[in-house]
Amino acid sequence: MTDLARDLLDWYDRHARVLPWRVPPGSGEVPEPYRVWLSEVMLQQTTVAAVKGYYERFTARWPTVEALAAVEDAEVMAEWAGLGYYARARNLLACARAVAERGGFPRTEAGLRELPGIGPYTAAAIATIAFGERAVVVDGNVERVMARVFDVTTPLPAARPEIYSHADSLTPADRPGDFAQAVMDLGATICTPRNPACAICPWREPCLARQRSVQAERPVKLPK
Ligand code: ADE
Repeated sequence: MTDLARDLLDWYDRHARVLPWRVPPGSGEVPEPYRVWLSEVMLQQTTVAAVKGYYERFTARWPTVEALAAVEDAEVMAEWAGLGYYARARNLLACARAVAERGGFPRTEAGLRELPGIGPYTAAAIATIAFGERAVVVDGNVERVMARVFDVTTPLPAARPEIYSHADSLTPADRPGDFAQAVMDLGATICTPRNPACAICPWREPCLARQRSVQAERPVKLPK
C-alpha cells in the first residue's frame, strides 16, 4: 500500500461520515450489496442529506432486493417522488427484478456491469464496497481530489483516463472499499470545489496543487 493510501485510511478511521448504508470503517464487516446498490443509485445526482430519509424509508419498507422486485412500479415511483431523475427509479426496478431473477447480485465488477441500469461507477462502487474487489471508483469528488493531488492540467473530460490511472495507482488491495469511500468523503468535506480546507487535509503535504497554490484551478474544465 502507498503512504498516501495508508494516510487516507488512517484519516477515514477517525473521520468517516456516519451514514445509514455504511458499516464502521475497519470493522471488517461489509454492508449487504442490496444496501450499497440502493444507496449508490440514490446518490447519483442527489446529495447525501437529501438521500438519507429516502434510503431509510425504502429499506424499512423493502428490506431485500426480492421484496423490492416484487412490488408494482407505481408504488416505488410514489416512494421515489421528490428524489428526481425518475429514469433512475425505473432503472432501479428493472435492475432489482434482474437480480431477483438470477438469485442475487453478481459478485464482480464485470458481472455487475451486465445488469440493467448499472454504469461503470455503480458497478465499481458495489464490487469494492460490498465484495472487497479492488475496483477503481471515480465520481466527481474523486476526479477533483485526483486532479489536485497529481496537479492534472489536462481539462475534463479529456483528463478522465489520466485521472482513472491515478486513482488506480493509489487504490490498495487491502480495504479498497474503505479507500474509495474515504476519497469521496475527502472530496465532500475537505477537498471541496471552493475553499478547500487544505490545513486539515491528510494529503496536504503530497498534494501537488497545494504545493503550487493552484487548488482553485483544478480540475481544469473546458469552457462550456
Ligand atoms: N457518494 C456516493 N457514494 C458515496 C459513498 N459510498 N460514500 C460517500 N459519498 C458517496
